[in-house]
Amino acid sequence: MSDRAAKPLLAGTEMFANRLRKNLRHLGKWARREGVTCYRVYDADLPEYALAVDLYEGWAHVQEYAAPPSVDPGRAEARLKDALVAIPVVLGMDPDRVILKVRRKQKGPAQYERQAATGEFRVVHEGGLRFQVNLTDYLDTGLFLDHRPTRALIRGLAAGGRFLNLFAYTGTASVYAAAAGAVATTTVDLSSVHLDWARRNMALNGFAEGRAHRFVRADCLAWLASPHPERFHLIFLDPPTFSNSKRMGGQTFDVQRDHASLIRAAATLLARDGVLLFSNNFRHFKLNRAALSQFAVEECSAATIPPDFQRNPRIHSCWKIVRRG
Ligand SMILES: C[S@@+](CC[C@H](N)C(=O)[O-])C[C@H]1O[C@@H](n2cnc3c(N)ncnc32)[C@H](O)[C@@H]1O
Repeated sequence: MSDRAAKPLLAGTEMFANRLRKNLRHLGKWARREGVTCYRVYDADLPEYALAVDLYEGWAHVQEYAAPPSVDPGRAEARLKDALVAIPVVLGMDPDRVILKVRRKQKGPAQYERQAATGEFRVVHEGGLRFQVNLTDYLDTGLFLDHRPTRALIRGLAAGGRFLNLFAYTGTASVYAAAAGAVATTTVDLSSVHLDWARRNMALNGFAEGRAHRFVRADCLAWLASPHPERFHLIFLDPPTFSNSKRMGGQTFDVQRDHASLIRAAATLLARDGVLLFSNNFRHFKLNRAALSQFAVEECSAATIPPDFQRNPRIHSCWKIVRRG
């Protein structure tokens, strides 16, 4: 860290900087080979530096995980300040391009609360497609990097069929399905902010809203409970761990408690030979196979965790579900 003036770094921060540098070398090689331009380069590798550092084409999105109560808050803050000096130096980036978010365990609406209001969207690239990300205004950027292989899986399954994206967020899965040649996509989310973002992502890739590409603002649970004539060849069902929006009429959704009924409801919309991809981010998730015995279920979690999330393989789990023959 010789290129840094003034105060020396804490000894721990030197270790953090070395780890970040090593990861950058190793993952950078992989990323260049694969044409990946947005990826996680550090994920709380050192417990005292409980940060996730994600690269987005010349920008770094840094999330500080809340420290456990055993960690002295003053020391945690000193380490964070120090780490924020080291990060742009190691990444060779202007410090203004390092965006910090503090991530606490959150449930329900607070999860999606606005952090700032810069309205600054930038376009990044993945799989030859274009996506808007916003690094400042929300906790999440618009592109969940851990689901990169899941999106590739969707690309491989979507050609020629109708695609349904439930809890669609910014519609990135719909973009992949449309690009793969899905004849139609239906993108459903409760949030108008997310749904508009999904519309922009689709338009950015040449898929304007219309008869082929529909966007529905709805509570997925209520939407699934109402009748729909169409059947889908591929359904992506990726609910939050917990949902209790006011717009759900006092109902709550808990993925561990409610996943089997949600999967069964979504599966009624499958075409013959249709595939339902179910995933979620609850670290302790257990699939209730007994309640899903009418389906053939194949776990594809390992296959959908990319190299940049290998240190945190429980970031999501993923399941391929089809009706039994
Ligand atoms: C974990 S994100 C889904 C990520 C997305 N599948 C992806 O691949 O980027 C959860 C999304 O569910 C939406 N949501 C939460 N509760 C909902 C509900 N009851 N009905 C519809 N959407 C809901 C949120 O607005 C958010 O966009």
